[in-house]
Amino acid sequence: LIGLETVRIGKRIVFKESVESTQKEAHRLAEEAAEGTLVIAEEQTAGRGRMTRPWHSPKYTGIWMSVILKPNLPPFKAPQFTLITAVAVTEAIRDAAGIMPEIKWPNDLLLNGKKITGILTELQADSDQIRSIIIGIGMNVNQREFPEELANIATSIFIEKGETVPRAKIVQAIMKNLEIYYDEYMTNGFGLIKEKWESYAISIGRHIIARTVTGTIRGRALGITDEGVLKLEDENGVIHDIYSADIEIDQ
Ligand code: BTN
Repeated sequence: LIGLETVRIGKRIVFKESVESTQKEAHRLAEEAAEGTLVIAEEQTAGRGRMTRPWHSPKYTGIWMSVILKPNLPPFKAPQFTLITAVAVTEAIRDAAGIMPEIKWPNDLLLNGKKITGILTELQADSDQIRSIIIGIGMNVNQREFPEELANIATSIFIEKGETVPRAKIVQAIMKNLEIYYDEYMTNGFGLIKEKWESYAISIGRHIIARTVTGTIRGRALGITDEGVLKLEDENGVIHDIYSADIEIDQ
């Protein structure tokens, strides 16, 4: 990772050849760790996604990493960090690999409708104060193929671009953008990031199906709030606040 251009993010790096999950490792280290510590591995044997789903993390082909931040903020601000990260990573892929993914709320980056990146934001917090925020980023970079059960939903930068991209170059770009947008957010708030997020998101303005734990809602995605909540207008004109769901574009 020589060549990081950041001041804080990624200045401390914990590198593992193989680990159960960088997210789990980052949770373990968070209390002691300096802000911006990066935990990164060549392979995860038990990588996990949202809603305790497994995350396929084979050796040497992807980016499996977790970043520890320590913002002086209340816990309800945490979901915004998924969106800050989505903007930072989208632009990193554009800058380092020359292709532009689309964002699917809340945490997926897609190329040609298939997932290349997932973001998992988790917290260690007191009731009124974040202690650590742990941002997990999983990116499919140089995989040639996927196991059968993932082949229809996952893709890699190699598959879409037809070329290998050095993972270090992408990691450097992510670290740089994350630092820029983290500073922007702490100094000026969420405005610019929200604007960029909405311009990169596929779902805004479209008809979508949102599957939440309490049921399924169909409607038009109007946008996101400053807290990163998705606003969905159903066919009766009722506006729903979606905090957590899987969404699908309603064709
Ligand atoms: C999702 O799309 O559900 C989020 C996937 C997050 C995967 C990353 S890979 C690095 C970090 N370690 C994990 O175990 N998960 C996250």
